Amino acid sequence: MQKKRKETAAAILVLHGPNLNLLGTREPRIYGRETLAQINARLQAAGHRRKVDVRCFQSNTEGALIDRVQAARDEGVRFIVANPAAYTHTSVALRDALSAVAIPFIEVHLSNIHAREAFRRHSFFSDIALGTICGLGSQGYDLALGIALDRIGAR
Ligand code: DQA
Repeated sequence: MQKKRKETAAAILVLHGPNLNLLGTREPRIYGRETLAQINARLQAAGHRRKVDVRCFQSNTEGALIDRVQAARDEGVRFIVANPAAYTHTSVALRDALSAVAIPFIEVHLSNIHAREAFRRHSFFSDIALGTICGLGSQGYDLALGIALDRIGAR
């Protein structure tokens, strides 16, 4: 008798950079009142409805984010939604990690980085991202995840 192969759910990684653990209390006028836990729970529920495992990871450390991106390839993660936060404007290393694993990703920012200080206008990620969503608050994550789910063919 043929053994039934156990199907593993497709996975999407949601990556949050430094200080996003403080969402809810961090400059709510700019970043809103929702906590990261609330955002992640919503994304995971949306993934669950389409049988996709949404893995959320936040770190305040550049190396930990890089390690998580590298691990994503070994785990077979099919798509990444990334808010590199302040590393958006500084991190060649995190950009290189995303290039290296060659997993398609969407860059998300809660705030409109083009309507703030000049140093936020440059992103090390936008030119290698599938696309960028910014200025739409936490809804940007939902939109990015919806696109990611469509792209990987989740039903
Ligand atoms: C951010 C924008 C960045 O400039 C900032 O450093 C962040 C959050 C956003 O989501 O709006 O930490 O990525």
